[in-house]
Parts: sequence; structure tokens; C-alpha cells
Amino acid sequence: MIEKQVLKNITVLYAEDESVIQEGITETLNLFGINVICVQNGQEGFTSFKASREKIDLILTDIKMPKLDGIGMIEKIREIDKDIPIIITTAHQETTFLMQSIELNISAYVLKPIDIYKLEDNLIKAIESKVLKEELIEKNKKLEIEIQKNEEKQRIIETQSRFAAMGEMISMIAHQWRQPLASIGTASFNLKYKLLTEKFNLDSKEGREEQASFFSKKLDEIEFYVQNLTTTIDDFKNFFKTDKIVSNTIIERPINNTLKILEKDLKANNIELTLDFKSQNQINIYENEITHVFINILKNAQDKFLEKDIENAKIEIKTQDFEDGVKIEIYDNGGGIKEEDLDVIFEPYFSTKKEKNGTGIGLYMSKIIVEKNHQGKLFAKNTKDGISFFIILHSMI
Ligand SMILES: Nc1ncnc2c1ncn2[C@@H]1O[C@H](COP(=O)(O)OP(=O)(O)OP(=O)(O)O)[C@@H](O)[C@H]1O
Ligand SMILES: [Mg+2]
Repeated sequence: MIEKQVLKNITVLYAEDESVIQEGITETLNLFGINVICVQNGQEGFTSFKASREKIDLILTDIKMPKLDGIGMIEKIREIDKDIPIIITTAHQETTFLMQSIELNISAYVLKPIDIYKLEDNLIKAIESKVLKEELIEKNKKLEIEIQKNEEKQRIIETQSRFAAMGEMISMIAHQWRQPLASIGTASFNLKYKLLTEKFNLDSKEGREEQASFFSKKLDEIEFYVQNLTTTIDDFKNFFKTDKIVSNTIIERPINNTLKILEKDLKANNIELTLDFKSQNQINIYENEITHVFINILKNAQDKFLEKDIENAKIEIKTQDFEDGVKIEIYDNGGGIKEEDLDVIFEPYFSTKKEKNGTGIGLYMSKIIVEKNHQGKLFAKNTKDGISFFIILHSMI
């Protein structure tokens, strides 16, 4: 009973030239709840199919009919519809057409005289498979739309994360450029100042030599800082790559590179620097990236001294071997950080120097370099008059 439900309200195009048979079968089909469009030959059948194609769910047809026979009609219908289920009603002696109609995708053959239960059974099977097929097509369509949506989402996510990485890279470069740019500014200001105030006696040979040596020294400095700007671009261009070049070095080397960049500034601000290098271990690191970490930490100490106007400003850098790696401590007596801020100073955009254009990415960047790119540790502890930053690095493979 439940199965019969599938026949309710479907529409069948029924081609049969013998009116007695047609009437009888149509009556039975109506009892099943089926709407029937009756035609008397293949030609009429094809015309009706074209006219009501949207409505028709199944075709039931006789073979032998005038004008155009059943097979001729099916051939024409199949040219425009490959899927509509077709059931053929046929007499025994007509079975010769069977082979010919294999290609026509016929759902079933019902022998005449028509056994109404067999017909019902075949109608149900044909309609059920049509419904299943349509559901499948519908599901596939939905799936395709979902897949397309997902691909689109994926593309957006990828583009966004590329932009985010690019933005991060640019802000890191900008951050690390501030120091050398300021130093270039100072050097060129010094040159201009000496020229404008006519500091050199150009009438004497010594004066001219003095000027030449001063200029050459300042231009060397500018060249050094320009070189540093260029290297910084390369350092951060490769920042998110995994195939960067590692250097085998003792930790003293990147520290000395840092001091070369910051020395003048530290001196100009009367900051006393104590170095205690005990580490001997050679380690594999991305040396330039580690240099950026030292620059950031030392710059922060200097910022603090200037902010607090500290008199006897002191920075101590200590290194010692630690397991197969090295531990570095950078201490300053600038007064340290509020205890509750200790946890957040490594977060991006946390800065207590907003009015002085602090971006708050210096320590965030340093943390990524040490902990993500080197699998090391970077943390800070307040001391009685300042703060110590600790860096632990192990040799990378
Ligand atoms: N040596 C230090 N002494 C005291 N506070 C510090 C020290 N180093 C960092 N901090 C605190 O940590 C915050 C975050 O430092 P970070 O280097 O990430 O950003 P920033 O220095 O504020 O900005 P930018 O690096 O762009 O100048 C600082 O604003 C400061 O409050
Ligand atoms: Mg900083």
C-alpha cells in the first residue's frame, strides 16, 4: 500500500491505438491515482510529449501503431530526453524488436494481455528509480554548490592569511628600520651642521684632512646603516619561510653586531654597558633574526632610561652555556615593569609608549623569533631596580 503512494498524481503519457485496451488500462491507472494523457499513435505521442514534457513522468506505449510505431516514437523522444522512464506493452509475437530497443533505455516490457498487477509493479519500480535519480541529481547539485562555496571560502582564507603575513612582515621591517633610519638622520645632520658652522679650517692642509676624515667616517656610518636596512628587508622577507640559512656561531657574534648598531646611541645617552661573555658553545641559529631580538631588548631598556630620566643607567649582558645551548641575560636598571604587565608585554600591540609612537610589536616579534623560529625561550623577570630578559637557545639541526 505504501509503495502505491509513489504513483499518486504522477502523469503518464499512454500511446495505444486499440481504444478498448486504452480505455480499460486508463481506467485502472486512474484508480491508482495516475493522470493519463492518451494518444493513439507515435506521432501524436511525440507531439504531446513535446507539448507537456515538464508534466510527464513516464511513458507507456504499445509497439504496433499507425503513422509512427512505438519504437519510432521512443527514438524521437530519446533524442530530446535520455532519462524519462518508458514501459512498453507488447504481444508475444512482437519480441523481435527487443534487441533493437536495448539502446533506447527501456524500463520494462509488459506482455499483452496486460496483467494489471505486473503493470502496477513495473510502474512503481520505474517511478521509484526516477525519483531516486532526481534526488541524486538534486543532491549532487547541492554538493557541487557546497564544494564551490568551500573552495571560495578557502581561497578567501588563504588570501587573508597571506595579507596578514605580509602586513606583519611589513610592520616588522618598519619597526627594525626605525633605529638605522634615526642613525642615518643623525649622521647626515652632523655632516650638515659641521659644514654650515664652518668647523674646518679649509685654508690649512690639516683642516682639509680633518674634514675629509670626518666626512669619510660619517659616510661610512651611513653606508653601514643603509646596509643594515637592506639586510633587514631580507631577514623579514624570509621570516615565514622554513628553508632559511642557519649559521653556526657562538652567541657573542650577534651580540657584537647589535652593539655595533646601537653603540653610538648608548654612549650618547650615557648608558653604561657591562659585558660578561662566558658561553663557548657553538650553536646553529638564524643569526640575523637573533640580532633583531637583542636590538629590540636593548632599545626598550634605552627607552625606559629616557622615559624615567635614570641617572646611572646600566645594561648588563651575560652569556653562559646551558645544556647544549646558551642562556643570555640582559638586565637594565630602568625600574622594571608593573608586575601585572609582565604577562602581556609579549603580546602584539601592547605598549606603554603609545604617545611616543610605540607600536608594541618589538617584544612580540622577538618572542616569535626565539620561541617559534628557534624553539627557544624568552621571558622576563623584575629585579629590585629593573628587569632582566632571559633568552635560552638550543642548537637547531
Ligand atoms: N626594559 C624594559 N623596562 C620596562 N618596561 C619594558 C622594558 N621592555 C619592554 N617594556 C614594556 O613592554 C612594552 C612592550 O614592548 P615592545 O618592545 O613590544 O613595544 P614598545 O617598545 O612599546 O613599542 P616599539 O617597540 O614599537 O617602540 C613596552 O611598551 C614597555 O611597557
Ligand atoms: Mg620596543
